[in-house]
This record gives sequence, structure tokens and C-alpha cells, in this order.
Amino acid sequence: MRKKIVAGNWKMNKTMEEALILASEVANMVKDEVSTDVTVVIASPSLYLSTLQKYAEPIANLSIAAQNCHQKASGAFTGEISAPMLKSIGVEYVILGHSERRQYFAETNEQLAEKVNIALENGLTPIFCCGESLEQREAGGFLEFVASQLTDSLFHLSAEDFAKVVIAYEPIWAIGTGVTASSAQAQEMHAYLRGHLATKYGQEIADNASILYGGSCNEKNAPELFACADIDGGLIGGASLKSREFTNIAKSY
Ligand code: PGA
Repeated sequence: MRKKIVAGNWKMNKTMEEALILASEVANMVKDEVSTDVTVVIASPSLYLSTLQKYAEPIANLSIAAQNCHQKASGAFTGEISAPMLKSIGVEYVILGHSERRQYFAETNEQLAEKVNIALENGLTPIFCCGESLEQREAGGFLEFVASQLTDSLFHLSAEDFAKVVIAYEPIWAIGTGVTASSAQAQEMHAYLRGHLATKYGQEIADNASILYGGSCNEKNAPELFACADIDGGLIGGASLKSREFTNIAKSY
């Protein structure tokens, strides 16, 4: 059985005071309302993670995530945060390869392969993001393009390591735009990616891989998206900044 995951990506939002309010509200709602079959993840700015860990720790199905980590374990990389640092404060997940990191910080598939490696070496679960731009979708070949992002950054992994990775399909044209992929468009991509994983790792491992959808997912469209056979949850941006809406998304199963 693959894991159902609803992860909130706060991006660069919230002051400390606001973060404490949002995290404590989410923690209470998850404890009282969300089935323990669904893992809820909060990816706050790294600055707050050790404080927010206190809210997540007592709740079995609530975890915290970083939004990025560096590909090296330590060293002269001013301003960066490493996987061992995240591990040392109890972080369990790390988002890697978000399209905003690829676009604004020029992250490449090769660099992301190194980030995936260091995350796994430190016992962190990567939430590996992939997705095509609108131009790529309109030009065709977008299924193969997204599959190649997985090939280039993940297919060097052993089956044992690959089985620890969570994938998030996020069409760039749907991120923060209010335009969601239709459930048919999302399902088409998820099924294609699962088939691609099967060619490398076999059907059983592909069937056990959690593939999340991200891109303007909200409490209204989540039930239909999550009902699709190959959609195993969501990576939620804007709607994760409101505790009630985010919890309702997690309750959509
Ligand atoms: P959005 O962001 O839900 O605001 O579209 C999703 C994401 O970037 O992870």
C-alpha cells in the first residue's frame, strides 16, 4: 500500500509569530480530524523548523519538512543549510527540485541527483518535484520531458533507496496561478510516471511509490484529484497557509 501524503509548502511566507499560530492550529486539527492513514507534512521556512518540530512530534501522522538543502554535508557555502543539520533537529522530509528552485536558483537535474543522495544518506525523505512549463505542454512531448527529470535525478538510485523517495508532479503552469490541472490531465501524467518507474524498478516498487499532485490544489478540487487512481496526495502551496483549508484538503480522502 502506498502512503497518502498531504504536504504544505509555505514557501517564503509567515513571520515567527504567524508560523506558530498556523502550525499549532494545523497540529490540533490534524490530531482531531485527519485519519492516521494520511501523513500530513508542513514545509515551513527552515528558520522555524526546530520550533515547529515540537508541534509535530507528539502527533504520529504529522511531520515537518525543509524546502531545500545543499548537496554537500558541510563547508564554506554561506547562507546554505545541509541535510545533516536538518536531520539533527528532527526534520523528516525535504522538498527537492521545486520549480521555483529550478527557475530562480538554476538548480539542474544533476545537482538535484546529488541533493537526493545527501538527503537519503542522512535519513531524510526527499519530496522530489517535477513538472513541465506551459510551452512544453503546448509543444507536446511533455510526458517524456517530466519522465526525463526522474531519470536524470533519481534513476541512479538503488531500488532500496528509490523506494524511500516521494514524487510530486507540479505542472509549472498550475503553480500559484489558480489554474489547476484537470483530474484527467493529472491522472494521465501520474500514470505515465508510474509506468516509467516500473520500467526501471519493476511494477511492485512503482506501485508503492507515492506520487503527489501540486499546482493550485485547494479544498474544492482536492477530492476529485485525490480520487484518481495514481494520485497519492498533494503538495499544497497557497492553500497550506490557511489551517482550515489545508486540513480540509488532508481530509479529502
Ligand atoms: P500552489 O503551489 O498550491 O500555490 O499552486 C504549489 C507548490 O508550489 O508546491
